[in-house]
Amino acid sequence: MSSGSKKRETFSSGIAVFFAALGSAVGLGNIWKFPYLTGIFGGGAFLLVYILCVIFVGIPVMLAEFFIGRNTRSNVIGAFKKLAPGTMWKHVGTMGVIAAYLIMFFYSCVAGWVYCYLFKSIRGDFVGITLESAKVQFTQTIIGPLTPILWQSIVMVAVGSILIMGVQKGIERVTKTLMPVLFLLIIICDIRALTLPGAFDGVKFLFNVDFSKLTAVAILTALGLSFFKLSLGMGTMVTYSSYFTKDNNLFRTAFSVAFSDTLVSILAGLAIFPTVFAFGMQPGAGPGLLFMTIPLVFSKIPMGNYLLIAFFFLSSIAATTAMLSLVEVLVAYYTEEFGISRKAASIVNSTIIVIIGSTAALSVDANSLLGSIKFFGKGFFDWYDYISSNILLPIGGFFIAIFVGYIMNRKAVLDEFSNNFLKLKFATEIYLFVLKTITPILLIIIFLNSIGIINF
Ligand code: PFF
Repeated sequence: MSSGSKKRETFSSGIAVFFAALGSAVGLGNIWKFPYLTGIFGGGAFLLVYILCVIFVGIPVMLAEFFIGRNTRSNVIGAFKKLAPGTMWKHVGTMGVIAAYLIMFFYSCVAGWVYCYLFKSIRGDFVGITLESAKVQFTQTIIGPLTPILWQSIVMVAVGSILIMGVQKGIERVTKTLMPVLFLLIIICDIRALTLPGAFDGVKFLFNVDFSKLTAVAILTALGLSFFKLSLGMGTMVTYSSYFTKDNNLFRTAFSVAFSDTLVSILAGLAIFPTVFAFGMQPGAGPGLLFMTIPLVFSKIPMGNYLLIAFFFLSSIAATTAMLSLVEVLVAYYTEEFGISRKAASIVNSTIIVIIGSTAALSVDANSLLGSIKFFGKGFFDWYDYISSNILLPIGGFFIAIFVGYIMNRKAVLDEFSNNFLKLKFATEIYLFVLKTITPILLIIIFLNSIGIINF
């Protein structure tokens, strides 16, 4: 059965479209990946390269996904079936569905830790902690085995329940309410962080332009990050744009989402690093920074516990709205291609994610239940992350760019973008040129590098 377009829901307005797409882009990536990578790869110089990647790869692929989604008003596999019937192109959609599962398996696990830390900060567990007790709390949370799976399940109950409510009553209402709250909370954290004595060292760490650290690896990292950040290459934006209104200006939506997402990343960096430096700590990598250093340093600030609640609340919002878009890829696919109800699709998928995702949750630490199981040196968690982020997303992005750039009818593409912000055909022409040349070349380079065929 193919997608029944008649009864299909849409978002109610342009602002709803903006917040939903931004909700997908803003996620855990902004809070620990972006600031940390910017810091180690030369601050301002990395930021500059990242912005170029967003312009030449991120925005073009996002627009291509918007074209496919809004033109067909279908789930990611259905969309390719409609545009290129009877061909292999539908498997770009299949890869998207697989990527959605794989990302959810590990993302829901980290989101579970974030929810757990929100709960702990509300309960006051971090008052007066030391480096030692911060470590103990973190290890207890991740090793479990009950704690991480319990929180991962709570996360999936939340995500599944919102999705059951539907596109307008669920996704739209939640993103429209929570994204402004996220902005407000992050600004409160910024003000507090930037007014601490010694905060400027953190600002310097983030923005200091140091071209000597800008290695080829840094450039590739920026490229891969821009892709993961903007939720591209796996049909998330195809699925969301299938609910966009017809009059939505796709160029404006893509630019404003990319701009606001980058702004949130910078604001997150400005909340984290000044605080870390003000207390003479080292900005450690990923999970350690978020789950040990932050509770430790925030707990030393007057009223810091409230700040910690704000911080983990905004992180929970970011993670949840990003997961809504990931699971919606699956829900749209099952409801439209197999005719099952939205409720059943949400429940079944959330359950599958908890069951298989628990292998990620139980494999993060060497002392976890499945911590000793490794395939070619990587455990479950790392494999889910590696296959999705390093293989499926860049390949998916490459084919999406080629599909819209070369296979699609030019007139259909020009028509879909006819209400661009300059009201100019010219803007679409420049866009198509970038999509056909610069974008795929850069994507091939990331891909070959990430699977180790070329090394810089
Ligand atoms: N953009 C999200 C983040 O930065 O955390 C992650 C993500 C969401 C990736 C949705 C891919 C996706 F389809």
